[in-house]
Amino acid sequence: MKKMAIVLAAGQGKRMKSKLYKVLHPVCGKPMVGHVMDVVEAAACERTVVIVGHGAEAVQSYLGDRAEYALQEQQLGTGHAVLQAAPLLGSEEGTTIIICGDTPLVTPATVQAMLTVHETHGAAATVLTAELADPTGYGRIIRGSDDQLERIVEQKDCTPEEGAVREINTGTYCFDNKKLFEALSQVTNANSQGEYYLTDVIGILQRSGQSVLAHCTGDEAEAIGVNDRIALAEAERYMRERIIRGHLVGGVTIIDPASTYIEAGVTIGADTVIYPGTILRGATAIGEDNVIGPQADLIDTVTGRGVSIKHSVTEQAEIGDVTSVGPYANLRPGSKLGSNCKIGDFVELKNAVLGDGSKVSHLSYVGDAKVGKDVNIGCGAITVNYDGYNKSITEIGDDAFVGSNVNLIAPVRIGDGAYVVAGSTITQDVPDNDLAIARERQVNKPGYAAKIRSRAQLKKEKKDSPS
Ligand code: UD1
Ligand code: CA
Repeated sequence: MKKMAIVLAAGQGKRMKSKLYKVLHPVCGKPMVGHVMDVVEAAACERTVVIVGHGAEAVQSYLGDRAEYALQEQQLGTGHAVLQAAPLLGSEEGTTIIICGDTPLVTPATVQAMLTVHETHGAAATVLTAELADPTGYGRIIRGSDDQLERIVEQKDCTPEEGAVREINTGTYCFDNKKLFEALSQVTNANSQGEYYLTDVIGILQRSGQSVLAHCTGDEAEAIGVNDRIALAEAERYMRERIIRGHLVGGVTIIDPASTYIEAGVTIGADTVIYPGTILRGATAIGEDNVIGPQADLIDTVTGRGVSIKHSVTEQAEIGDVTSVGPYANLRPGSKLGSNCKIGDFVELKNAVLGDGSKVSHLSYVGDAKVGKDVNIGCGAITVNYDGYNKSITEIGDDAFVGSNVNLIAPVRIGDGAYVVAGSTITQDVPDNDLAIARERQVNKPGYAAKIRSRAQLKKEKKDSPS
């Protein structure tokens, strides 16, 4: 049977008290509506319509061509929202999944189970429900004497008895598409909120003798609808646990899941060990056999095999096999390290490429640089890449040695195998295999230390004696 989906994403989300539209609030780094789209895509729907309203442009630019869009100009309720898809889907035959853009924890497996129940029973509608310890805020599932689903009552319209029901509507449904749109045309806004409720469709179908079913998920987390920041934090916690469980199952050791934060888009190879206090964000992709953390904060960073990163920050960095980073390194965007490199403490890299086997072990800044293989950059050496107006490039050839506390004033090239003596300020290119020294020659004055001391002593006595 033809499958379609409608995603409700037009609400403003007043209770979030936010400039950001509700469905774009991230949960584990991914906007809620992105999580919901993942679920819809897993169901392999032939058409998906996202209902947009508040922040329509932002939602559309985030989702791009993953969906068709229908605009709901005024937010008159969830039923009214679905009606906006009528020009696109109204004449279709098949099954339509409806899901809210603020329920990021619904899983593909649960939607599949609901679809199976719906289609095997040939139901007109199937509602995904959940039993909650605290059902506050959700629509209640009202069952008849035969235990069959009868209708859904919104919290604000509940009698005290209805309010005591703990089975709630998660806001995810399957509908027979034709019957959905027929029933929607009968929905009115005669309720406490003056809104056109999608949930009224259930009662309408039931009263006209159609079969309506409830499919109850066993996982409370799936029910979370994020209406405020409290629910957002709760959703974040559940999603975080779910993501971490996925990595544990995939063969990653996570020493302390409670202090580890891994965003939805991150991948990690088997036998990697993650130490506490680690944050892995964005499109970070960790290879196998890495040791990450403690206290590593990686954004959009790609690592090879056997990499180690501790107490460091990296962003848009690429790190080759068996390279070690930190403690206390800062790899800024465009840092590309080969294999077997070493980046030590208090080293900052930016837009810098390092060939295999190169080392920057302590206290350096390497920016806008192309560094060859097996180069050693000594303690405190820096590239001087900025004159206040322009950024310039430093090139360092293979096997070069840059001594401690060297300033490389860009643009400048250090040749292959060249040797730059410690303390030099280099302003001119150094040819291959040459030695460069650019510092004052030292002068020693024999016995002069005692003279300096007695002169200083005299000065102090003069100052201290009362005049
Ligand atoms: C809705 C359900 C409730 C259910 C809960 C599950 C209705 C009437 N109520 O309540 O039974 O327990 O979800 O989380 O459906 N939206 C629009 N246009 C509108 C109104 C809402 O697109 O005019 C979108 C919102 O962006 C949101 C979704 O629909 O993504 C749900 O709307 P919301 O106002 O959050 O409904 P709830 O009160 O949570
Ligand atoms: Ca909601």
